[in-house]
Amino acid sequence: MSSYDPFAQNYDAWAADMTGDVAWYMELARQADEPIVELAVGTGRVAVEIALGTGKRVLGIDSSPAMLAVARERVAGLPIDLREGDMLDFAVDEPVDLVICPFRSLLHLPTWHDRRLLFERVAAALRPGGRFAWNAFVFSATIAAQLDGKRVQRPGGLWEVARYIAADSRIELTRGRGETTLGTICLWWATKSEWEGLIDVTGLEVEALYGGFNREPFDDDSLEFVWVARKPV
Ligand SMILES: C[S@@+](CC[C@H](N)C(=O)[O-])C[C@H]1O[C@@H](n2cnc3c(N)ncnc32)[C@H](O)[C@@H]1O
Repeated sequence: MSSYDPFAQNYDAWAADMTGDVAWYMELARQADEPIVELAVGTGRVAVEIALGTGKRVLGIDSSPAMLAVARERVAGLPIDLREGDMLDFAVDEPVDLVICPFRSLLHLPTWHDRRLLFERVAAALRPGGRFAWNAFVFSATIAAQLDGKRVQRPGGLWEVARYIAADSRIELTRGRGETTLGTICLWWATKSEWEGLIDVTGLEVEALYGGFNREPFDDDSLEFVWVARKPV
């Protein structure tokens, strides 16, 4: 069982704050040859829009059967191939032009070793000139101090409590509805130099680092990493 399974039916409510990313990933997809690969595709929130907006094939991989079950209901009639599996095992038959990993999903990989393995797999899957795009939050001690241990209400009676474990760069998000606790997911934050190290050791190059989905410059006040790496030609 995946830690995401208990949240699948209400995923849209949990994801309600993430809105600006779809147009950004869509633009990259427009510029790429099909198929587009989405790692950690979830319920298809991004993949469905890409397929609808570009008509291109999308291959989506996710480890949560329940998230994929929701996705399968949405992709009927669309050129989207959904596969259950760990993104650490991801491989393609033919090199691809674009791999994306939206909504901070790489932060579900607990160790630098796991992330390096994932970046190696992406580098192996890309054709020369191909792109890898992802986003992740920037750890902020100010935000951590505001959120740690506080119960945040979401639409539909849902709630979420974040617990920050600095010693392991980990956030535990416990979610529930009313009196019921549904489960906990963990994210492990990474610094700019850790991301740069992953790009470097796997032979990719930084094409762009933005501070937001409107291509804001990444600066000292940025709260989101929006990365595009490219496999050298
Ligand atoms: C925040 S959701 C993102 C879903 C979708 N990409 C989106 O933007 O809405 C994170 C997803 O990562 C998936 N996931 C977590 N660890 C994974 C892994 N090791 N391999 C594949 N999927 C994973 C979860 O099942 C979940 O669907």
